[in-house]
Amino acid sequence: MAKKASAAEKSASDLTAKEAKAEHTRLALVIDKHDVAYHQKDAPTISDAAYDALKLRLLEIEKRFPELVTLDSPSVKVGAKPSDKFAKVRHARPMLSLDNAFTESEVADFLARVRRFLNLDADEVLEISAEPKIDGLSASLRYEAGVLTVGATRGDGAEGENVTANLKTVAGIPHTLKDQCPPAVFEVRGEVHFPKDKFAALNETLIAAGKEPYANPRNTAAGSLRQLDPSITASRQLQFFAYAWGEAEPRPEGTQKAVVDRFHAWGFATNPLMRVLTSLDEIMAYYAEIEAMRADLPYDIDGVVYKVNRLDLQERLGFVSRSPRWAIAHKFPAEKAETELLGIDIQVGRTGVLTPVARLKPVTVGGVVVTNATLHNEDEIKRKDIRVGDTVRLQRAGDVIPQVIGVVEEKRPKGAKPFAFPTVCPACGSHALREEGEVAVRCTGGLICPAQRSERIKHFVSRLAFDIEGLGAKHIDAFLADGLIKTPSDIFHLEARYGDGEKAIAAREGWGPQSAAKLFEAITARRTIALHRFIFALGIRHVGETTGKALARAYGTVEAWVAAMRAVAAKDEAAVAELEAIDQIGGTVTEAIADFFGEAHNTEEVDRLLAALTVEPAEQVATSSPVAGKTVVFTGTLEKMTRQEAKAKAESLGAKVSGSVSAKTDIVVAGPGAGSKLKDAEKHGVQVLDEDGWLSLIAGL
Ligand code: IVH
Repeated sequence: MAKKASAAEKSASDLTAKEAKAEHTRLALVIDKHDVAYHQKDAPTISDAAYDALKLRLLEIEKRFPELVTLDSPSVKVGAKPSDKFAKVRHARPMLSLDNAFTESEVADFLARVRRFLNLDADEVLEISAEPKIDGLSASLRYEAGVLTVGATRGDGAEGENVTANLKTVAGIPHTLKDQCPPAVFEVRGEVHFPKDKFAALNETLIAAGKEPYANPRNTAAGSLRQLDPSITASRQLQFFAYAWGEAEPRPEGTQKAVVDRFHAWGFATNPLMRVLTSLDEIMAYYAEIEAMRADLPYDIDGVVYKVNRLDLQERLGFVSRSPRWAIAHKFPAEKAETELLGIDIQVGRTGVLTPVARLKPVTVGGVVVTNATLHNEDEIKRKDIRVGDTVRLQRAGDVIPQVIGVVEEKRPKGAKPFAFPTVCPACGSHALREEGEVAVRCTGGLICPAQRSERIKHFVSRLAFDIEGLGAKHIDAFLADGLIKTPSDIFHLEARYGDGEKAIAAREGWGPQSAAKLFEAITARRTIALHRFIFALGIRHVGETTGKALARAYGTVEAWVAAMRAVAAKDEAAVAELEAIDQIGGTVTEAIADFFGEAHNTEEVDRLLAALTVEPAEQVATSSPVAGKTVVFTGTLEKMTRQEAKAKAESLGAKVSGSVSAKTDIVVAGPGAGSKLKDAEKHGVQVLDEDGWLSLIAGL
C-alpha cells in the first residue's frame, strides 16, 4: 500500500482541518526561527525565495481556515522584535529630560529665570555652554576605578536596560578611562546615534537585498542597541557623544565645559561644536550657525542645548520635576508638508471626549510617513475652516504627533462644505454635549458607552498603569464583547469566574494553552501593585502619571489616600487643604478627584479592586533629612539665597513650605525685617532659625 502523504507534503487546498492546524503550527515555528536568524542575528539560513514560499503556504492555509490566524501568527507580526530579555538597571541618579524653547523670547525667559533664581546683578556675566542636541537616545555608562562596568539605556529615566555588551561596540565609548588616577565611580552620560552615512549604507544594503529599508535613524539606533547579539550592534557602527553625568565620586567641580573636556581626555567622543557663550545675542547667533550647518553635519540634530556653565550654579538651580532648571533645549522649527484631507473621523476617548482625526493622503514629513493627525476639537476645525477635500499644511516636530497647521485655500475643491460636528456619540449613540466653558464635546454615555469602557480597561492595563502583558487591546475588546469582563476588577476574577479559567481562555479564538497560562501569570504578578500605578490606572481626569506619583508620595498608603479622597469628595475642608498643599496640585485636580470619588459606581469599583489587590506603600522622599515632613515658613529678607531657591531646596528635602505660620508650623526661618510671622511663631511656640541656622541644619544635604 502506498504511504499516505504527510501534511507537510500535501498542497494547502487538500489539507483537512486537523492537518491544517498542525501544519500551520509547524510553519509558524519554522518562519519564526528564520525571522530570528534574519532580524536578530542578521544571518539568514534559507534563501529569500524559500522563505517567501513558506509564508505563502501559511497564508494559503489561513485563507482556507481563518480561525488559525492568531495575533502572533507570522502573517500578522512584522519581523521579530528585539529581545526583552535585558536585565533592568536602576539609575543611581535619574536620567532627566530637558524643557524646550522654540523662540528667542523663550530662550530670553530661560536666561531671565536663571538670573532671577540666582539673584544675579545685571552686570554679572552668566556663562552658558551651548552644544547641538543630538537626535539619538541617551545612555549611561558606569565606570568604577576607570573600568566600564555597566552601560544602560535611559528607559523611563529611573530604570533602564543593561546593554553593556552592546554599548561596548559603539564608537566614542572607551572601555577604560585614559587616566592615571581614575575616579572611584563616574557615570558618563550621552547620546548614542546613527551617523547619517552609516544609516544610508545600511538601507542601501537592505534595498539591494530586496528588503524594506528602515524609516528613521533614531528608532533604528534604539533597535540596534537592543539586540541580543552584540555583533549585530557592532555591524551598525553607532556613535556616541558624551555630554552629562550621573553618580560621580568625587563630584566634579568647575564648569560644564571643563567636565566635557575631561570626558574627551578620558577617550570619549565629545561634540566639537560646543561653545561657551555669554549673551542672548551670542546664543541666537550660535543657534543660527548650527541650524545652517544642520543638513551638512554627519549626524542628525534637532536643536541646540544651553546649560549654565558653572557647576556650583547648576547645583543651586537644581531641578523642577524631571528637568534641570539650569538647562534648556532650543528646538529647530518643525518640518512641514502638504497633503489632501480625505476625511474626518471621530474617535471617542477613554474619558468620552469626541476627538476629530484627519484622515490624510499618505505623505512623508521629517522622514516619517503620516496618514492621520489630530484636529483637536470642534473649535479648531472652525477656526482653521478645515473641510474634507482640502489640501492641508502639516508639521511634525520630533516625536510629536503631526499637526494640521492650516489649509491651502486656493486648492479648495468646489462645493467643499464646512464640517458638521456630530451631536451623538459614534460609539454608543448617546447625546454628545459640550459643557459651558469647555472646548471638548463629550459623550454622556459613561460606562454604558463601549468606547469608554474599553478605553478605561485598556488604560488600566497599559504600561504605566498595571502593565499586564498579554492582555492587548484586541483581547480586551473580545472579552468585553463576550461579557467576560465589564470593569477593571473583573480582570482579577477572570480565572475563578469562568470555571477553569485558563482552559476556557485557551480554547478561545486567538489563544492557546501557552498564551492563556502567560496571561494568568501576568495577572497574578500584578495583584501586588505600586500605589502610584494604582492611582494612575483609575483613569481619573487630570490625574496623569506625574500627579499619580505626587499623590502616592504624599499619602503613602492606599488606605490613607482613598480615605482622604473620599473626604475631599465629601467637601471636607481639611482634606481639600491637604490635597492642594501638594506641589503642582490645584483646583482642577481637586475637582476631578471629587467628581470621581463622588460617584458611587467608582468607589464601589475601587473597593472591589482593593479586595483583590495588595497595593504597596509609596517610597517617601528624603525621609532621612532632618526637615522631611516638617512645615517650614520663610520670612524676612534672605541674604544667601532667593526665596524661590530656599523653597525649592526645602521641598527637595521633603519639607512642606507654607506662606503663613500656624500651630502646625514646625520651623520659621526669619531673616532681617521679619514682622508679624515672627510674632506668630513666638505665639505658637514654633522653632525660629536665622538663615545661617537653617543652612547649618540642612548642611551637606
Ligand atoms: S543634556 C540633565 N545635552 O535630549 C540634562 N541632552 O530632550 C540631560 N540630548 O534625554 C540632558 N543632545 O537624550 C543633553 N547635548 C545634549 C543632548 C541631549 C541630545 C537628549 C537627551 C535628553 C533629551 C532631552
